[in-house]
Amino acid sequence: MPRPRPSRRLAAPLTGALLALLAGGSAVVHVQSERDLHRRVLVPAHDAPAAATFAPTPAAHAALVERGARVVAERGCAGCHGADLGGQVLADDALMGRLATPNLTAGGRGAALTDRAWELALRHGVQGDGTPLRVMPSGEYAAMGDEEVAAVAAYARSLPAVATRPPALRVGPLARLLHVAGRFDLTPAHAIARRQAESAGAGGGGAAHVALAPAGASRR
Ligand code: HEC
Repeated sequence: MPRPRPSRRLAAPLTGALLALLAGGSAVVHVQSERDLHRRVLVPAHDAPAAATFAPTPAAHAALVERGARVVAERGCAGCHGADLGGQVLADDALMGRLATPNLTAGGRGAALTDRAWELALRHGVQGDGTPLRVMPSGEYAAMGDEEVAAVAAYARSLPAVATRPPALRVGPLARLLHVAGRFDLTPAHAIARRQAESAGAGGGGAAHVALAPAGASRR
């Protein structure tokens, strides 16, 4: 019997080494992305006027809702949250994960969103406890004014309650890899916080008021 060619004899240990490298690499990617997904952002209390202050009369409320409808259309929220803002699953695969959006109407997540929650989601990309929202492109909305935020909230609250319950978003291994490689920002909240802290420090007056909290307890 001929002896196996050297390349053959090397194949097994090489494959083993490659697999070990891959496993090690993906563990590092997992740990690093996990740290960002849980790294909370401390957002100071902002005294955004309550939505109601922009709509003291029924006519003013109707105008606010109309403005909200325009903002939502211009910003393309429905592209992700669905035409009725009832949320949806946009993609679901083993590598990237499941890109699902919450139901923003009173029939779903919308019911629990206070004025403050709308402000946090749109301008800061976080939930009430500072946990970063994933994928939601809040960096594009961070400069929205108080009235614009109030208008979007008023519009969402004016919509018929949709009963859909989209499943939770799930972050797949390739999405984590792209995040760690800096090719796709899973958690825009951190870049927003850095920008806001920089502009506050750069002479905006007052201390930098946005801080990144150490990784800690959070909802996921
Ligand atoms: C690229 C897709 C995308 C677009 C565009 C988008 N969102 Fe989202 N949004 C998401 C995803 C995904 C989540 C869920 C994030 C999570 O669960 O971590 C989310 C979550 C939210 C939340 C939930 C906040 C909470 O506390 O649960 C609100 C409110 C919201 N989006 C409003 C909007 C509005 C208003 C617009 C348009 C101005 C918009 N989104 C545009 C993807 C998108």
